[in-house]
Amino acid sequence: MLTRRTIIGAAAAAPALLGFGRAGALTSERLFSFGVASGDPTPNGVVLWTRLAARPLAGDGGMGAARVPVRWEIYDDDSGRHLVRAGDAVAEPAWGHSVHVEVSGLQSGRPYWYRFIAGGEASAIGRTRTAPARHALPERLRFCFGSCQKYEDGQFGAWANTVAEDPDLIVFLGDYIYEEDPSVGTPRVHLNPAPVDLDGYRVRYATYRLDPLLQAAHAVAPWIVTWDDHEVINDYADLADQHNSDPAVMARRRAAAYQAYYEFMPLRAYSRPHGPDMRLYRTLDWGRLAQFQVLDDRQYRSPRGCQSHVRGEMSVSVVKDCPDLHDPKASILGMPQEKWLLDTLSGTKARWNILTQQTQITPYPRRDPAHPDGPADMQTVDTWQGYQASRNRIFARWQDANVSNPLVIGGDIHAFVASDISYRGKALAPCFVGGSITTQAGDKLLVQNTADLPAYRFARNDVRGYGRIDVTPTQCDVAFRALRNPLDARTEAYDLTKYVVEDRRPRMQAA
Ligand SMILES: [Fe+2]
Repeated sequence: MLTRRTIIGAAAAAPALLGFGRAGALTSERLFSFGVASGDPTPNGVVLWTRLAARPLAGDGGMGAARVPVRWEIYDDDSGRHLVRAGDAVAEPAWGHSVHVEVSGLQSGRPYWYRFIAGGEASAIGRTRTAPARHALPERLRFCFGSCQKYEDGQFGAWANTVAEDPDLIVFLGDYIYEEDPSVGTPRVHLNPAPVDLDGYRVRYATYRLDPLLQAAHAVAPWIVTWDDHEVINDYADLADQHNSDPAVMARRRAAAYQAYYEFMPLRAYSRPHGPDMRLYRTLDWGRLAQFQVLDDRQYRSPRGCQSHVRGEMSVSVVKDCPDLHDPKASILGMPQEKWLLDTLSGTKARWNILTQQTQITPYPRRDPAHPDGPADMQTVDTWQGYQASRNRIFARWQDANVSNPLVIGGDIHAFVASDISYRGKALAPCFVGGSITTQAGDKLLVQNTADLPAYRFARNDVRGYGRIDVTPTQCDVAFRALRNPLDARTEAYDLTKYVVEDRRPRMQAA
């Protein structure tokens, strides 16, 4: 049972709890104002991240054109006495003085502590973890997953509670920032106009990353990240924005947004962007226990179905069914990524196969918001509903390759939704959409629409929060963790509902 005291302690004092804070005043508010992070663990390594910024809300971070040497250190205990690895990196102005160190040669399946030193200053201490050995079957993996953290809609109390869960991993499923102009009268307000260039996106990420609760979550465990649309612009598809703007303009904007994303995330060189292209889809293994298949559903998707694509004309997001939505040539992932995923699913040896993606994948026909009492014969073209052949190819591969325990996690819809995925009349996998960190709900008919659909076991979008899953060889324990007050940074999380998924039983059971 969490108390307000433990949450405040865990969040506000996370770096100190992790070590060196007790030993001396080694933390700094200046060069390391964005804190530290780690990500993408393997059995022998992890990415360590920081970004130097003397003036964090300046586009160049106040660092000018200097190349800055940065030392990194890894310790095998939280007391800071046993240095196990150290090295030197350079913070480059071309990459916003971000640092991405790909450490290798570590022991598998254990925690490490790390910090950076630059300009005579030391960063806060972060805790990270390597993945278990390739053939190990660990007793438990605890991960929390979240999405949709609109700064203007509330405080990041979800992250304070995530820290208190002591997770092995944190998975973020998209909408890390929102790109819109500042609002009026919201609990918090974006600090710069809607970004369109690199400096604009850097300032937008900086606004979010200066939040101490978000920093604490990055410092407590390695993250696995993917993006959705708002990291660039609402509802984009490849190089088409909602207004069908000039694709060349969109490409420049996407290049700026992707670079800022890379600069702020603990990603490997594998994901370093090249202009408007950035490879984000990948797998991460947790021994033989679990594999995360991380998808990018934005960068390569086919054009929106059932509409014209006239330059400058607003696209339609909810339509009556039409053949485009079933077009076998259309893909939400793009064909190369889709082939990679299908091959991955054919080859996986993991007991749990966690499809780590942005939104809800379970079929969701909906009512016309203008006619809430009418039939549920409308389709959203921006989700998997708009790319149904693409979705069916994944379901078919789960079934035909006899993939062990597929399980889907998602975000995007600002709702807690638990649903059973079936295909060709057989139950296949559970899908858990884990709420939103702060962003307010948009679908007023969610509860009404899902009430008629037997696949849907739970749907609420009047609360904010995150998901927590304890994965063991025999079952997954899933909790939807809701916040009592998303406007209060010190709020408590509570169990909104819980499910158990047993090994080789694809239908979830109420816990
Ligand atoms: Fe969102």
